[in-house]
Amino acid sequence: MKIIGTGSALPQKEISNDMLAGFLETSDSWITTRTGIHTRRLLSTETLRELATKAAQAALASSGLQASEIDYLICSNVANSYVSPSLGSILLGTLGCVCPTFDLNGACAGLVYSLDIADSFLKTGRARNILVVAAEQPSRFCNWHDRATSVLFGDGAAAMVVTEGKGFRDFRLTGVPHTDVMYYKRSLEPTPFDRVEERTTPLVMEGREVFRIAVESCINDVDVLLQRNGLTGADIDKYLLHQANMRIIECIREHLEQPREKFPTNIQKYGNTSSASVGILIDELSRAGELKDGQTLMISTFGGGFVTAAAILDWSAIQY
Ligand code: ACO
Repeated sequence: MKIIGTGSALPQKEISNDMLAGFLETSDSWITTRTGIHTRRLLSTETLRELATKAAQAALASSGLQASEIDYLICSNVANSYVSPSLGSILLGTLGCVCPTFDLNGACAGLVYSLDIADSFLKTGRARNILVVAAEQPSRFCNWHDRATSVLFGDGAAAMVVTEGKGFRDFRLTGVPHTDVMYYKRSLEPTPFDRVEERTTPLVMEGREVFRIAVESCINDVDVLLQRNGLTGADIDKYLLHQANMRIIECIREHLEQPREKFPTNIQKYGNTSSASVGILIDELSRAGELKDGQTLMISTFGGGFVTAAAILDWSAIQY
């Protein structure tokens, strides 16, 4: 499977750390030092559906395919205003695609989970051209009175068109039930038969524990993929890691003993955009000509659950 088109879209509204310090007990220096984040983009007047559509249209345009040529749409999303229909179904309408679709919740690892499924669909001949969209609005499930979580996230969308061809070499996906270290709970409708009240709980996170699990699991995935494919850390041209915290990225880099230039980041500008993060990074690098033909890339992502998804691929340059 190879990527033949990429796109991304971000909200227009840029929120600085100082703006957050206007209503939260925090500071630019705390946020910058602990996370590396300077600004994030948050949805205000636009909608997530619009962002997702924009990212998908950009991916389609760069792939040279028409919406009618897409025969599967996989949408990675943790939460949006509809539980049903799926965000994927909504996007069929805005994009003009006529194909099967479903939403996948792989938390921040959802884009790579979606790519893994797309790879299986292509290998089994279920589809020829697949559109993968990751669209996330974590700002809507944060507790905006909680300075320890709300400062970390940003909204955004990314998309990729994938088809048969040489590109992805290997995937590694994992799941371990650490459900208590990070969760967002939505309310359910009351029933006369179930007295247990189900109230919405905005994002709860044990930051230090998530940090520890993230570093450990990401290193593990990268090591396993390198070993399984007969590679060393030096054979990878770029490490494209989930943009959750600059210090997490730095810990992984130190373990791998690889130079900083191999670890491009955009967390400074966008914060953690959940499953869209690595897709936005790939789209920006690809459009800037920073991903070269034949380069070997390592993608590694992790998210609440706890789930991880990593992949090795050989890049084919895309014409924009
Ligand atoms: N501003 C100022 N002070 C703060 C803030 C803030 N925004 N947030 C927390 N603090 C305070 C705490 O209250 C605490 O104060 P205390 O010592 O008086 O109790 C102090 O700072 C230290 O808090 P810690 O939580 O220990 O700080 P830490 O260095 O661990 O940094 C952080 C916190 C940034 C959340 C870090 O743990 C982290 O990044 N964890 C990983 C989070 C993550 O990546 N989550 C998403 C992963 S999965 C996915 O992407 C969906």
